[in-house]
Amino acid sequence: MLEQNSIHTVDFTDMTHDAMGVAKIDGFPIFVKNAMKGEKARIRITKVNKNFAFGHLDKIIQESPFRKAPICEHYYECGGCNIMHMNYEMQLGFKRHRVKETLKRIGGIDIEVANTVGMNNPYYYRNKAMVPFGMANGKIVAGFYKPKSHEIVDIRRCHIFPKYYSDIVRHLKILFQQYKISVYDEEKQEGLVRGAMIRSSEKKGETMVVIVTENGKIPAKNEIIEDLVERFPTIKSVILNIAQDKGTFRLGRKSKVLYGEDLLHEELLGLEFRVSHASFFQVNPEQTETLYKKAIEYADLKKNDVVVDAYCGIGAIGLAAAGSVDTVIGFDVSKSAIKNAAKNAEVNHITNAQFINGKAEDVLPKLNHKKIDAIFIDPPRKGCDKSFLQTVVATNIKTIIYISCNVSTFSRDMSILASKGYKLEKITPFDMFPQTSHIETVAKITKI
Ligand SMILES: C[S@@+](CC[C@H](N)C(=O)[O-])C[C@H]1O[C@@H](n2cnc3c(N)ncnc32)[C@H](O)[C@@H]1O
Repeated sequence: MLEQNSIHTVDFTDMTHDAMGVAKIDGFPIFVKNAMKGEKARIRITKVNKNFAFGHLDKIIQESPFRKAPICEHYYECGGCNIMHMNYEMQLGFKRHRVKETLKRIGGIDIEVANTVGMNNPYYYRNKAMVPFGMANGKIVAGFYKPKSHEIVDIRRCHIFPKYYSDIVRHLKILFQQYKISVYDEEKQEGLVRGAMIRSSEKKGETMVVIVTENGKIPAKNEIIEDLVERFPTIKSVILNIAQDKGTFRLGRKSKVLYGEDLLHEELLGLEFRVSHASFFQVNPEQTETLYKKAIEYADLKKNDVVVDAYCGIGAIGLAAAGSVDTVIGFDVSKSAIKNAAKNAEVNHITNAQFINGKAEDVLPKLNHKKIDAIFIDPPRKGCDKSFLQTVVATNIKTIIYISCNVSTFSRDMSILASKGYKLEKITPFDMFPQTSHIETVAKITKI
C-alpha cells in the first residue's frame, strides 16, 4: 500500500484525458499533474484512493523532448491552462490521440482520426474571458481559480486572451478601490462585485465589458464608465449583470445596459453577426471559421436540401450554409441567442432561414418537415438528450454533422447512433482551446 508523502522514482507511460502523467508502482496507477509520457521523475504521493493515487512532480530526471517552458508566470498555480508545459506539436498530437482513444473506449469505434487542425499563434486567441474578483489579505484580486478550488490566482497577464483584457481587469481593480466599491469575499459571503466578463471582436475592434454584481447596483457608475471608455476606446458597451449565486462565478439571469447596447458585432466567413452578452458564441474566432468551413464541406450540401441547425446559438453555422441550400431551420434553448439569430439572418439578407426558440429534444419532433437532408448538431458539453437522438434516427436524416466540445459525450452519442444504423465516416479535431486539454471535433456521420 502506498503511503501518503512517500517519495518514488517513476516512469510515465501514459496520460489521462486532462493531461496528467500516468505512472504505475506495482501496477497501481498514480496521476501526476504536469508530468509527460516518456518522462522519468521523482514524485511525492499526495493522496491515496482505493484504486489510484495522486502525486506531485518533485524533480524531472529524464525530460520529454516535447516539454516546453510555459510562457505564463502563473501557469503552475492557475487553473486556466493545463498543457502549456507541452510544445505545440505535442499538444496537437495529444488531442488527436485522445479522440482516437476515447472513441474506442467509450464508443467502441476504431477509426482513423485526422490530424488536429492547429493555430499559427496558439496564444491570445480567446474572444471572451470570465474573471472572478475577490479579496485576499485585504487586497482586491482577480484572475482564474486555482485548479479544483475557489481561491483566485491574481493574474498580472493572461496569455490566452488578448493582452489588453488584463489591462482592463487591472484598471477595474483600481476603479473599485478608488470608488470604495466592495468586492465579494467568498468566506464572509459579502461584497458587491463578483467579477467581470470581457468579450470582443478583434475584426470589428469592439469590446464589451460586463460587470457582475450581487444586487445590480454599482456606485459611481457614470464615473467608472467614463474612465473605462476614455482609457479603452474599443469598449462599446458596458452591462451590469446580477448574480446572487454563492458558488462558482458565473453570469446571473438579470442584467441592464449601462452604456452602448447589449450587442457585439462580429464577422465570420464574410457574414455579419450580432451577439448579446448572454448568447453563446465560439471563443476562438480564427478557428471557428476553419471549423465551420470543414462542417459545411463534410455536409456536402445540395441546392434543394432542407438543413437543420440544432443547438444553433446565434445561427452562425446555419447562416453560413444557407447560401448552398433551399431551407435552414435552427433552434436553441436560449431566447437571446434566437433573437440574435433572427437578426443575423436579416442583416445578411438571408431569407431561407428560420429560427425557433426551444429545446432541441422538444422542437425536432414537432418540425414535421417532409424531408430533412442534413442536420448540424452542436450541443453543449453534456451532449445530446437521448430522445433528441431517437428523433434524429426516426426522421431518417441521412447526413449528420456533429460538432462537439467534449469527446466523451460525443463518443457516447455516437455509440447510440451506431446502434441505430449510422456510421462515423470521418472526424477532425480542431484546436479551439490551445494550452488547455479541451478538444473540439467535427464528425461526419451517415445512415448506412
Ligand atoms: C456549443 S453551443 C453551439 C452554438 C452554435 N452552434 C455556435 O456554433 O455558435 C451550444 C448551444 O446549445 C444551446 N443549448 C443547450 N441545451 C440545449 C437544448 N436542450 N436544446 C437546444 N439548445 C440547447 C446553448 O444555448 C448553446 O447556444
